[in-house]
Amino acid sequence: MEKKRRDFMGLSLGLFTAAGGIGALYAMKRTWDPLPSVKAAGFTTIDLVDAQPNKLTVEKWRGKPIFVLKKSADMKKDPRDVVIGDDHFLVAVGLCTHLGCIPAYVGDEHKFKCACHGGEFDASGHQIFGPPPSPLVIPPFTIDGTKLVLGEAGPEFNKMKDSGLIA
Ligand code: FES
Repeated sequence: MEKKRRDFMGLSLGLFTAAGGIGALYAMKRTWDPLPSVKAAGFTTIDLVDAQPNKLTVEKWRGKPIFVLKKSADMKKDPRDVVIGDDHFLVAVGLCTHLGCIPAYVGDEHKFKCACHGGEFDASGHQIFGPPPSPLVIPPFTIDGTKLVLGEAGPEFNKMKDSGLIA
């Protein structure tokens, strides 16, 4: 009788310890795993289905402004355009490649003008005037239907990179 009681106590203690160990491991894993907000922070998804021609939208990706501009029919197409269906878009980090100011879009002129030192970029992001040494930077992207996912280098981005369009 005494032995059975000791076996029962031993088994109970073993189960209790095992449950505690599993609980502790689970708690540790939850502590080490990045928060969902952190996991999602590297990517920004933008649905371009409602984009209006020649109207700049500024999104945010990894703390940087991202210019998204759907080209109107009268705007010049460019190999740097992100093409979704029949639509062409400029997608670029909205920081001047001279010293990092945020250029403003002048829709009537289809140009970006940087107020800091007078640099200008065309609607495809090419530097056309002033001190900027290079075009606006194209961030890594992939296309998912009508959506643009920033932060992931998809085939279209890699093709631009292989063609030397992205530094
Ligand atoms: Fe834009 Fe100098 S920072 S022209």
